[in-house]
Amino acid sequence: MSVTELENLDTIVSLAKARGFIYQSSEIYGGLGAVYDYGPLGTELKRNIRDFWWTEMTRRHDNIVGLDAAILMHPKVWEASGHVEGFNDPMIDDKQSNKRYRADMLVEGHIARLRGKGKAEEADELQQLLDTAGSREGLCEDLHQIIMDHEIRAPESGAFEWTEVRQFNLMFQTQFGATSSGDDGDAVYLRPETAQGIFVNFKNVMDTARQQVPFGIAQVGKAFRNEVVARQFIFRMREFEQMEMQYFVEPGTDEESYNNWLNKRLEWHKALGIRPHKLRTHPHPEDKLAHYAADAADIEYEYPIGWQEVEGIHNRTDFDLSQHHEYSGKKLEYYDQKKQKRYTPYVIETSIGLDRTVMMALCDAYREEEVDGDSRTVLKLNPAIAPTDVGIFPLIKKDKLQDLAHKIEQDLRGDYKVLYDESGSIGKRYRRQDEAGTPFCITVDFDGVESEGEDTVTIRYRDDMTQDRVPVSRLREVISDKTKSWKPE
Ligand code: GAP
Repeated sequence: MSVTELENLDTIVSLAKARGFIYQSSEIYGGLGAVYDYGPLGTELKRNIRDFWWTEMTRRHDNIVGLDAAILMHPKVWEASGHVEGFNDPMIDDKQSNKRYRADMLVEGHIARLRGKGKAEEADELQQLLDTAGSREGLCEDLHQIIMDHEIRAPESGAFEWTEVRQFNLMFQTQFGATSSGDDGDAVYLRPETAQGIFVNFKNVMDTARQQVPFGIAQVGKAFRNEVVARQFIFRMREFEQMEMQYFVEPGTDEESYNNWLNKRLEWHKALGIRPHKLRTHPHPEDKLAHYAADAADIEYEYPIGWQEVEGIHNRTDFDLSQHHEYSGKKLEYYDQKKQKRYTPYVIETSIGLDRTVMMALCDAYREEEVDGDSRTVLKLNPAIAPTDVGIFPLIKKDKLQDLAHKIEQDLRGDYKVLYDESGSIGKRYRRQDEAGTPFCITVDFDGVESEGEDTVTIRYRDDMTQDRVPVSRLREVISDKTKSWKPE
């Protein structure tokens, strides 16, 4: 059997659309850039991944509690967090095409082209200038100067007609309340990360959930960023979902906790069914750390677009709680009774994009296989997250077979996501479920209902296409055992 893995992102985009995983938002109006809707199978897959994370983070830790904070928050939150001042990208516009580019990425693209042409020395010099941008006249001015001096042209139009470089804030603004005057003073933002909802509720949770440091708060929710370079399907979206956990620890224990969480999170990705050789951790070098971070690393997956971040683990020190203390005037401290010591806890953050995880799961599961001269596309998803658990088919449309198939359907429905299908050849039905990632298909045939004793059916396994004949009463046991023992290939 020959097996081909995913080589091109477009293949997943097409499959996701054709099978009802993911559609472009508002497609009948021409779509909305970098915004996507999840269809029936995508909704199930996303929900299963969300539950898989929630179970691991909250149910398996008695010191991590949940939160569901609002998307809209007091505008001061974003001043305290640094997003109003610092959540910017330096942008430049091509006057000929009116297209907007990230100025630093334009320079990076130029450096890559120079290297491609063997001009390593020139590329090194330019890289040095880029690395020190901001240290001469200011970030925007320095980037503009580099673009001018090296005559870097717009990638699409080829023009050299640039505007100045300007900082572009990535937060979406909206107006608040019926009396809004439209002034900036009334502006509220759609949150660009879920984390701040956790920080501002630190005291509420402390006071009500009887937790003692170390403890964590977990949350899943929407975040919004007006990304400028927003391509690559659901990898970089303007509306997306984050699953974040902030773990509050005593200063001095932060490094150990950070390493612990980095390991735990990497193990979670493997437990999700992602092949270990497609995962790696990428620690941020000290000179690239955010000003508030003592340590940071990405968990990366090798997508068809290269190695990319799926999750970030950060040691955020006491920056966030101290900032909110300063801006709100409310103390966000912890008093350790046993040690008789008061301090502002440090925060170890685990922050993962749900949509990027869906994309990772789809990419990792995708295979095209040649089987005895026939080809099939199959999603070898971990059964624990597959959108449909079980396909149930009567071999042909005969009452006897249909009745038993419906009986099995009724019995499993509720505990499993099942799909009854009697249309088309059995081979076609298997192929449809292979493409949807359904791990088990049950077929009811005459051999099983006409023999002596208990009715039997065949259960067919998606990954290796083998089949077993099983008494109906053992179906749940077989499904449960095979789900637990599943390993990625
Ligand atoms: N609270 C920390 C924080 O938000 P981040 O690295 O900006 O950190 C965390 O985001 C995760 O959110 C990323 O690792 C990524 O998976 C996801 N993410 C960020 N921006 C995204 C976007 N535009 N589209 C989809 N996912 C995104």
